[in-house]
Amino acid sequence: MSSTLAVMMEAEKLRAEGASIVDFGAGEPDFPTPENVKEAAIRAIRDDFSKYTAAGGTLEVRKAIAARHAADFGTSYAPNEVIATAGGKQAIFNLISCLINAGDEVLLPVPYWVTFRDVINYAGGQANLLETREEEDFALTAEMVKEALTPRTRLVIVNSPSNPSGAVISAPEFGRILEVTASHGALLLTDECYCQLLYEDKPFSVAALEGAKEHVVVAGSLSKTYAMTGWRLGFALAPAPLVSAMVKLQSHSTSNPSSIAQKAAVEALTGPQDSVQKMLAEYRRRRDFVVEGLRAIPGVRCTNPQGAFYAYPNVSAFFGNGAGSANELAKKLLREAGVAVVPGEAFGTEEHFRISYATSLETLGEGLRRMKRFFSEQKP
Ligand SMILES: Cc1ncc(COP(=O)(O)O)c(C=O)c1O
Repeated sequence: MSSTLAVMMEAEKLRAEGASIVDFGAGEPDFPTPENVKEAAIRAIRDDFSKYTAAGGTLEVRKAIAARHAADFGTSYAPNEVIATAGGKQAIFNLISCLINAGDEVLLPVPYWVTFRDVINYAGGQANLLETREEEDFALTAEMVKEALTPRTRLVIVNSPSNPSGAVISAPEFGRILEVTASHGALLLTDECYCQLLYEDKPFSVAALEGAKEHVVVAGSLSKTYAMTGWRLGFALAPAPLVSAMVKLQSHSTSNPSSIAQKAAVEALTGPQDSVQKMLAEYRRRRDFVVEGLRAIPGVRCTNPQGAFYAYPNVSAFFGNGAGSANELAKKLLREAGVAVVPGEAFGTEEHFRISYATSLETLGEGLRRMKRFFSEQKP
């Protein structure tokens, strides 16, 4: 089971026993899905849009996905280079299942989103972990990628903005990462799940660079951008033969993503985008509040996330007082202070907590107060 889910389940158990829990574990927006998207789904139900669709999604939704990406980033994908999936997760699962055979290597920067590693293992591949440094804001550089490539590397995975660190790769550096990956003959998987949730830089896709398309697979999702986690609608943009393989796999597993969710997605992608900007402004306020609050706790270090909705503070100063790891400290924090966080071990680092700030300022304030008190009692 994913460690993120494990923390949520433990928090749920304590809550059921009557404990007051502040939950920073959930990796999903607290906002409702925008009204226009909900209305489109209701219309689809009333219109009986309730049959199977093409396994890789309707032509309408694939065109809408390509058109949104073109408008946002300047790419040009044809419908046969697009697959609609049940969430970004299925896009990633399909791609890795189709591409990776036993013995193939996949370069995975640390800290990583936990699913990547498990799916690589599931496909029989080997995840080659590439350490980034907290002192450098977890930055991934082309130089680091170049040094870590081996003759067996088939795929390089980049997730910017990153879950869990919030690190963002600049456009020029992304271009250099593509260059070293492509000239090595490997594919670059860019997970753009948080691509609209950027606080300083302008949204950017490496797929828009000249000559990029044949070397890049984009995995995208409506989950975070439009607060649609439960609807399950994601996509991949990739060279046509790869899309065709992914559709084949999907046709024998889940078939099409929900027909209703596809109609909702068309509205989300082609309708007004102002709700995205409103949510981003609120996330920025929360980011500033939570980072400032964490940095005000003596002993806690915290980089400033440039995107997504997670803070990734270093809590190693508190190891040694009945808790020797982030995992143990997180359990203690949950039991003694009623704050749920995800320990860094889930993402390949041992000294951090992931704190999701996709929750109200009031909840963030309460959680920070509890953490401050808890940490002041942990000093060895
Ligand atoms: C980095 C990253 N990629 C992809 C996803 C997939 O989300 P979904 O399957 O809901 O589209 C998530 C969700 O947490 C994520 O954090």
